[in-house]
Amino acid sequence: MKKKVLFVDDEVNVLQGLKRMLHPLRQEWEMAFVQSSAEALEVLAREPYDVIVTDIRMPGTDGAQLLKQVSQLYPNMVRIILSGQANEEMVYRTIGPSHQYLSKPCEPDILRKTIERAFAIRKMLNNEKLKEVISNIDRLPSLPKLYTELITVLKDPDASVQEIGKIIARDVSMTAKILKLVNSAYFGLRRNVADPTEAVKFIGLDAIKSMVLSMKFFSSFDAEKLRAFSLENVFNHSTTVGLLCKCMAEQEGNNRAWQSEAFLAGMLHDAGKLIFADNFYESYQQAFNLAREKDLPLWEAEKEIFGVTHGEVGAYLLGLWGASDIIIEAIAFHHRPMECVHKEMSLLTLVHVANGLANQLSGTEKTGQLSYFADEYLEKVGVKDKAQWWADRCLKNMESAEDHE
Ligand SMILES: [Fe+2]
Ligand SMILES: [Fe+2]
Repeated sequence: MKKKVLFVDDEVNVLQGLKRMLHPLRQEWEMAFVQSSAEALEVLAREPYDVIVTDIRMPGTDGAQLLKQVSQLYPNMVRIILSGQANEEMVYRTIGPSHQYLSKPCEPDILRKTIERAFAIRKMLNNEKLKEVISNIDRLPSLPKLYTELITVLKDPDASVQEIGKIIARDVSMTAKILKLVNSAYFGLRRNVADPTEAVKFIGLDAIKSMVLSMKFFSSFDAEKLRAFSLENVFNHSTTVGLLCKCMAEQEGNNRAWQSEAFLAGMLHDAGKLIFADNFYESYQQAFNLAREKDLPLWEAEKEIFGVTHGEVGAYLLGLWGASDIIIEAIAFHHRPMECVHKEMSLLTLVHVANGLANQLSGTEKTGQLSYFADEYLEKVGVKDKAQWWADRCLKNMESAEDHE
């Protein structure tokens, strides 16, 4: 079955350019090109499409409004902005309803890869209901404590980029969202930013202030929804896993950019739990009950209840938001690394081991119930004997870092 992609732009020249550029792909994609939001909605009402790629600035309903409507009417579609000149305010308005933001002129290869990756990510979840809900998530829940802390700091005229970056880096949800924004093509960066403080620097303090204070850019978690679940525990665990990953990358002699990427993968690996807890709390409660009754790890109980685990669910959302492939892979397979096609040392290896170490450390996984590590996988990757070495070095490093706090 051909994938269907709808392009919307008020400029005929742009549409013609796209048509020409994408002509070689006509065997794989069925494409339609329309000149206004109204036309786009008409086309969509007639037949379903998989992806919409739209300009922002258009007479009548603009791209941001169009995507908002599309998200409500056809929640399963992938929504991409392809924009030329846009002002900041417009960009910030689209960051919620769009999954990704590309800039004009866009090289055919980038556009093709972005759309192909969106298709690949959509294949990851075989549950239509979940897909629908996740495609419409525009923010993840933050810890009320950190949220209030951020607001207080932002209201302080002397607040520094570092201070703000530090708060964001402690919050899984804020980290994910801020990186989605900074890695959108609007900022024109040629590389992926993985460090929250660097992201704050790029976006600028004023922009962050106006987004957080006026636009509900982040949101706070309602703990009453699901008592079995502690967001704070997930955040603490995620930070530990992030720091362990970073330390392991350092031990492996990886450069700073890779270390940041490793931290990010660790920090975000359990993001799927936040999605379940925030959007499916009743079923998630059942998963907790089942895990307790049958003495299963939570991810196995999730699989029984939802058909997928928090790994794929988190990877799906962050994939839609444009996270890099290696991060998506690490998140998706962190509990079942053998299912990943790549069997060499990667971010997945680091996250899998770091997650096991963090659980050992906190005693959350009972010995005997399941092994901390997928031994077969570690053997295949060639790091079976290294896990202990990493543990010794990194746990010690982390303890001494805590002493210096
Ligand atoms: Fe996990
Ligand atoms: Fe975990």
